[in-house]
Amino acid sequence: MNELLRLNNLRKVFPIRPSASEPAHELVAVDDVSFSLAPGGSLAVVGESGSGKTTVARMVAGLETPTSGHIALNGKGRTAAHAGQRARKAQARDIQMVFQDPYTSLDPKQTVEAAIDEILRAHFAWEAGRRQKRVAQLLDQVGLDQRQAAARPRALSGGQRQRAAIARALALEPRLLILDEAVAALDVSVQAQIINLLADLRTETGVAFLFISHDLGVVRQVSDDCVVMHRGRVVEAGSTTAILDNPQDDYTRTLLSALPRPGWVPRRRNVPEDAAPPIGNAQDAPISR
Ligand SMILES: Nc1ncnc2c1ncn2[C@@H]1O[C@H](COP(=O)(O)OP(=O)(O)OP(=O)(O)O)[C@@H](O)[C@H]1O
Ligand SMILES: [Mg+2]
Repeated sequence: MNELLRLNNLRKVFPIRPSASEPAHELVAVDDVSFSLAPGGSLAVVGESGSGKTTVARMVAGLETPTSGHIALNGKGRTAAHAGQRARKAQARDIQMVFQDPYTSLDPKQTVEAAIDEILRAHFAWEAGRRQKRVAQLLDQVGLDQRQAAARPRALSGGQRQRAAIARALALEPRLLILDEAVAALDVSVQAQIINLLADLRTETGVAFLFISHDLGVVRQVSDDCVVMHRGRVVEAGSTTAILDNPQDDYTRTLLSALPRPGWVPRRRNVPEDAAPPIGNAQDAPISR
């Protein structure tokens, strides 16, 4: 099979040093994970909170170094998280990540267009006019208008902010877009709009998605294939329809039974101001701890 991304026996162990009185130990966050993704494909990694989804994503993005195992993009081994600036820069063109909270990728002091211009300037020796055209094209692709382009993230709605983060992530024409709970914080109707946008962008640009989510309803709409993780391990993998319609593993069945019924509305949680990210969080979702 033609492979864009391949993970072989990936493992990540975090050393845990709780406090002086407690002994240090190790936490196996990801254990023997293998899967592959075709160019332009869409693969979901699903599982409950703490199952290791983000850790897998961060290793693929080069933000975390695997304890063991191997990651290849286009048949070439991934560059370690501690690699030099040039290797990291080349990697950024191939793989970009969109997070649940767009403030992670958007500077609150920067307008949307300035944020996109900045990433273009960092990677291409283009004159201002060419960058301007590309910024306008990207904003158009994600459905943001002039006023929103000139706005700072705070002045935008959650959905608009996520559109801006997607535009910035697509600026370098990556081969792979990692979306880590990218629609989890959005209201259901806005979620549907962003899901449609993502589908269009995949058709238009040929970018592949690694879609991290604990929401199987969303996964069904977005991903051709699906990997179910539980406690760091893959318990089931295959086509999304096959897994969701006919789950073979007990854990997948449990996840499915936790799915909200149609008409279910996410409940907003009261979180102390200082503990909360600027916009919603995963607690809105049905299967979180
Ligand atoms: N930097 C770290 N140091 C120590 N432990 C970590 C670190 N990052 C993650 N972990 C632990 O690894 C496990 C997997 O975490 P991870 O964030 O990958 O889960 P997840 O599936 O993305 O969960 P969620 O759905 O809540 O985002 C958890 O037990 C977490 O506490
Ligand atoms: Mg996560």
